[in-house]
Amino acid sequence: MFASSPNTLRLQRIIQKSGQRAYHDLVTLPTNKPIISQGPPGYSAVSGHTVTVFGCTGFLGRYLVSKLAKMGTQVIVPYRDEDEARLFKPMGDLGQIVRMEWDIRNEDQIAECLRHSDIVYNLVGRDYETKNFDYSSVHVTGAERIASVAAQSGVSRFVHVSHLNASTTSKSKFYQTKAEGEERVKAVFPTATIVRPGSLFGYEDKLLTNMAVWPIWWKLNHGQTKLRPVHVMDVAQALANIMSIPQLPSTLSLPGPSTLTYEWLLDLVSSVTLQPPSRAPVLPQVVATTLAKVAQSVWWPALSPDEVIRRYIDDIEVPGDWAAVGMSEPAEIENHAITYLRRYRSAENFVRPIVFPTRPSPVSPEAY
Ligand SMILES: NC(=O)c1ccc[n+]([C@@H]2O[C@H](COP(=O)([O-])OP(=O)(O)OC[C@H]3O[C@@H](n4cnc5c(N)ncnc54)[C@H](OP(=O)(O)O)[C@@H]3O)[C@@H](O)[C@H]2O)c1
Repeated sequence: MFASSPNTLRLQRIIQKSGQRAYHDLVTLPTNKPIISQGPPGYSAVSGHTVTVFGCTGFLGRYLVSKLAKMGTQVIVPYRDEDEARLFKPMGDLGQIVRMEWDIRNEDQIAECLRHSDIVYNLVGRDYETKNFDYSSVHVTGAERIASVAAQSGVSRFVHVSHLNASTTSKSKFYQTKAEGEERVKAVFPTATIVRPGSLFGYEDKLLTNMAVWPIWWKLNHGQTKLRPVHVMDVAQALANIMSIPQLPSTLSLPGPSTLTYEWLLDLVSSVTLQPPSRAPVLPQVVATTLAKVAQSVWWPALSPDEVIRRYIDDIEVPGDWAAVGMSEPAEIENHAITYLRRYRSAENFVRPIVFPTRPSPVSPEAY
């Protein structure tokens, strides 16, 4: 979408060499601050925007930073772990990726991270609670703190990533705190754009790859829970597009194109990986919750009791707002499943053709 014809590029280079700038190089931000873009679109261009992406070191954040940097945007990448921030350096041209250490509890550090930015993304979120941070301190107070510092610092736009199922009445604390976080963000930054993606799939996802390794946890509810999986690249592109769209609805839902049951997704994983379907039993919820509670005593992330609750909650049926972010329908899961699942094939099956399971008949809205 950012490709230009050779003639346009040639013209832009001539203008650039002559030291002149075109009228369309000037962008006026909502705060009336003008910024000037420069150079042919791409890695070495200067879009004029400076962006801070909180939560950049996560699954979605890394793709967003890459997309922004490729557009010639200067990106501030706040990090907690030095090693997590290393991979960002080659994503942008020299000086375009600025790494800064931060702590979500430290307002001064947050202010320092967004001091020069005209747009701030908040992707910070956690699937499980830790001894230092519960859901509320990350999704509610943390989100509110970032939004309020951004508002005080005169940031033009604030984009807050929530979840498709965010609801104050949800049985899941994760979804509840996501909804509370949205409200707090809107209270302190009224023009904020709330983005609600469905469950993401991609290389580092916790969906397809987890199903390939731990099918037992996806058999809960007899595999009948309904999901609207969406490709991480599509959501990252939608977030990147937001930067150049001046007017947007205050809440954007970004679900995947199809509603699918866990049962069908497990079939998909076993067909694509050419592994036999799992013979693991269907655990009753109480047993799964007990096991998840016990699993919290290990020091690496294990399935949390709240995730067990979420495995019984269907994704909500709302229309996707893809057109508002300049995109057509997102990709179907079959189009990309092999890319992320081929590594689970045995050596002799590695290049065998894929046979997908038959799609279940469409779920009628009355089923919800
Ligand atoms: N993945 C999905 O399927 C999905 C679906 C819908 C919505 N979302 C939402 O989209 C956002 C990004 O998701 P994701 O999959 O990229 O999540 P992720 O891989 O778990 O990454 C979460 C990010 O938040 C940061 N973070 C978490 N707790 C923090 C804390 N206490 N202090 C500072 N930073 C903290 C992490 O930093 P560190 O690297 O330093 O830990 C990381 O950068 C989240 O808000 C998530 O809830 C995700």
